[in-house]
Amino acid sequence: GEMSGGCPFHGDGGVRSLLGRTNRDWWPDSLNLEILTQEGKSADPHGEDFDYAEAFNTIDYKALKEDLKALMTDSQDWWPADYGHYGPFFIRMAWHAAGTYRTGDGRGGAGSGQQRFAPLNSWPDNGNLDKARRLLWPIKQKYGKNISWADLFILTGNVAIESMGGPVFGFGGGRKDVYEPETVYWGTEEKWVDEGVETRINPDEGKALDNPLAAIQMGLIYVNPEGPGGNPHDPEGMARDMKETFARMAMNDEETVALTAGGHAFGKAHGAKPADSFGGAPESEALALQGFGWLTDAEEIGKGQITTSGIEGAWTPNPTEWGGDYFRLLFKYEYELVQSPAGANQWQPIDPDPEDMAPDARDPSKKVPTMMTTADMALKRDPAYRAISERFRDDQAALDDAFARAWFKLCHRDMGPKVRYMGPEVPEEDLIWQDPVPAGTTPSDSAVADFKSKVLDSGLTVSELVKAAWASASTYRNSDHRGGANGARIRLAPQKDWAVNDPEELSKVLSKLDEIRGDLSMADAIVLGGAAAIEKAAKDGGFDVKVDVTTGRGDATDEQTDVDSFEPLEPFADGFRNYLKTKANVKTEDMLIDRAQLLGLSIPEMTALVGGMRALGAVSHHADHGSKIGVFTDRPGVLSTDFFVNLLDMGNRWETVDESGDEEFVGRDRKTGEEKYRGTRTDLVFGSNSQLRAISEVFAENGGEQKFVDTFVSAWTKVMDADRFDIRCAKYHK
Ligand code: HEM
Repeated sequence: GEMSGGCPFHGDGGVRSLLGRTNRDWWPDSLNLEILTQEGKSADPHGEDFDYAEAFNTIDYKALKEDLKALMTDSQDWWPADYGHYGPFFIRMAWHAAGTYRTGDGRGGAGSGQQRFAPLNSWPDNGNLDKARRLLWPIKQKYGKNISWADLFILTGNVAIESMGGPVFGFGGGRKDVYEPETVYWGTEEKWVDEGVETRINPDEGKALDNPLAAIQMGLIYVNPEGPGGNPHDPEGMARDMKETFARMAMNDEETVALTAGGHAFGKAHGAKPADSFGGAPESEALALQGFGWLTDAEEIGKGQITTSGIEGAWTPNPTEWGGDYFRLLFKYEYELVQSPAGANQWQPIDPDPEDMAPDARDPSKKVPTMMTTADMALKRDPAYRAISERFRDDQAALDDAFARAWFKLCHRDMGPKVRYMGPEVPEEDLIWQDPVPAGTTPSDSAVADFKSKVLDSGLTVSELVKAAWASASTYRNSDHRGGANGARIRLAPQKDWAVNDPEELSKVLSKLDEIRGDLSMADAIVLGGAAAIEKAAKDGGFDVKVDVTTGRGDATDEQTDVDSFEPLEPFADGFRNYLKTKANVKTEDMLIDRAQLLGLSIPEMTALVGGMRALGAVSHHADHGSKIGVFTDRPGVLSTDFFVNLLDMGNRWETVDESGDEEFVGRDRKTGEEKYRGTRTDLVFGSNSQLRAISEVFAENGGEQKFVDTFVSAWTKVMDADRFDIRCAKYHK
């Protein structure tokens, strides 16, 4: 839609820091463990050698599922199960674990068990999910390191759906836990969600949702259930907010309707008392509460006097049974606006038949009215949603299928290629959002050698070959494991046309490679071309290096490629190629760090790659200065430390030249004033930032050349192979 066209890192109001507000801003007094993860010390008790996928595969999967099923109805006094069944509560836990995923940068999602940590553990929208996770502890404890929290959240959601008769499409395990909060940009607001907090979308004020964000307010998974800014009388705005936020999570209208209606076939909302009758969020609560938040006294909890969202009631008369009652009721009744005991806006059926009343959560003999949130009402008020809802009302099998598939996608969207899924319940069917790539074949050593010599005689330059290989591989994102060189999607829409890739040059390089590749896949040919170019460039610089290439990549087709879903992978900035689309509201060098993190690079690796690619002349074409920006050398195409040497040389002085004043710089001879180089913020930050300067010095100093070449080559290979799960995961699928 129009609003999702917004550029990443674009929004109103000046330059912001890349991360917006962080845990330290929210909880300045919280225990500072970060000082213990300095000097490369990991917070992960399992260590680097722990192979989680292997551990997961040793599990008695059936027994685990049986244990989870038994847990569903084993009500605990300290947090009794509504209707005697924890299933709905666990579905909400899984949905909120997965639902932080956003297409913009692939971050969020269920992949690493982040719901255990701040800020997610304390988001208002994750209210009381601390109890859901704690209910799972006996099972986590029993299966130990063989089941991660991350997998357990999702598997528990699946078992919950199954145990209440709902349709499930499959389950893939393999989500490895992390042991520290991920640093993710969640927004800049100073409140989570509260009276007076601004909504992020407001067309009247020309406000769109800042990319990559995917929620309407910071403490929400998606939308405000009561309506935009809490206003229940704006059905259009409600649908707009839902469409925008669900699209940012790769869900279309049909998936959105199926998921929301399917989810709300189960369970209830909690709004028994005003929110201020409860304690604060877990991260800020007293030690004695042991990580729990939002508490009231035990007797009240026993009576079900709980407030989570503030909305109160079940959607259907059968909250622990899958079926078609949600749509039946939604269309059967007119609904009137009422307020919950906690004061939230919600909708209640007018004159419900007795059989359409819901049981009380603690006393099945007592009947209470059902309800719909303003978001649920949008499913019949918005014309596009309504058409889908009516179809699902009339065709239960269609809803079953759509819900099962959308739930599977929701929970696996951030896992990347299907080969990363473990366990006995991985569905056979290939799904387009998994970005399938056909298996490749491994060429002989002589075919590889033959190709590499042909490539060097082809007339293609070092810069062209390196740029093409980088363009192909560097779309990879460690966040959702999408992108990368495998599949050679660089030759397909939309990637072949991205400005960052210099489409004309790219197309020339690709056709040349195609001409000489013989039996090699295009994907391998592109990576081998880069390797041959780097080996030649190193040799010209006096270094004898071998750039290892793991061949065997396949070539994906247009049919295997969802063009729309690849659009968010377009780099808004790529500091490695010195590319910036337009000036943004975060600093250009921040975007380099962001991309380096998505590529899984360390600071020295990032630094070597930037300096090395500059030396090779592998920069995007600049409107005024061609391929010279950041290329601080008079021998481009030779692998050298010239970038660092010349940047640190006190014989040069730097000044800004561009109109906005801080994106482009000119380097002059300090004595004569003669112009020598052009550079960007991304270049100059390696001399200006004290930490990056320290690394630049290591590469620029005497004896640093070999260190530089080795770091460059290993970092390069890391990027080229970042997506090779076909190889790394093959051993699990024998
Ligand atoms: C509960 C809103 C989508 C599954 C709730 C609650 C709200 C809500 C306000 C009550 C929480 C409480 O007070 O305990 C929304 C909105 C959605 C949405 C606004 C989207 C526009 C979904 C989706 C699913 C889902 C996609 C799963 C597929 C559930 C379940 C519960 C629930 C199972 C009941 C939890 C329990 O019984 O404790 N939702 N939801 N919801 N939601 Fe959603």
